[in-house]
Amino acid sequence: MKREIIAGNWKMNCTKAETVELIEKLLPLVGDPGKMEVVICVPFTNIDAARKALRGHKGIKLGAQNVHWAPKGAFTGEISADMLKSLKVKYVIIGHSERRQYFGETDESVNARLKAAVAAGLKAIVCVGETLEEREAGRTREVLLRQTSAAFEGIDKSALKQIVVAYEPVWAIGTGKTATPKEANTAAFVIRKALRKQYGRTPAHAMRVQYGGSMNASNVKELMAMPQIDGGLIGGASLKPEEFAKIVHYDEL
Ligand code: PGA
Repeated sequence: MKREIIAGNWKMNCTKAETVELIEKLLPLVGDPGKMEVVICVPFTNIDAARKALRGHKGIKLGAQNVHWAPKGAFTGEISADMLKSLKVKYVIIGHSERRQYFGETDESVNARLKAAVAAGLKAIVCVGETLEEREAGRTREVLLRQTSAAFEGIDKSALKQIVVAYEPVWAIGTGKTATPKEANTAAFVIRKALRKQYGRTPAHAMRVQYGGSMNASNVKELMAMPQIDGGLIGGASLKPEEFAKIVHYDEL
């Protein structure tokens, strides 16, 4: 059995004080997450405050939302893997569609960031997903195969246990529209197909694939019931403590 993983992507939300407040509300609600792996990916500036607020609570891991490929240097505004590690960050999101859409992230830069993250011993959540235009043009499969293969180029099989893939259809992010469980399952299957081609059946099957895009307490159960889906990457609903805790404990819904 693969360990399921629910990760919150806070995006560009919360000041330092709001971060502490949100985590203090979240901790008793999440309580013991049992077998579920739980991660919150906060803005860089809130990592230290989040780490302190999470201290003593083993159930929630700390994540960041991006990482640069170089160890250091003249890259104004960027953050290195070692900087994240020095703040006890365990996870990092790479290639989120908002980075691809608004900040010029490409398949190549996603690959470079992933290499740096795994080399530093971070765990990575690599995001792939088609736009509405691509889906309507019947190009979903092609896009997922391309994005997945490109992201993993040159990544050694031994690093796969450090990586989770998030299928995030761009048209479902922050829109209230969710992929149907069947659509999400098919997409996760296509992602595994790309991984199978590169690494073989067993390693591809062992990898965890999350669904992301307007996941909430009302749709989590049916999405998680899909055989190809091993977790969720939650945006909007991760900022609502009650809702996020329900998602973590979806088996009790
Ligand atoms: P959403 O965001 O849950 O608000 O749709 C998901 C994501 O962008 O990771």
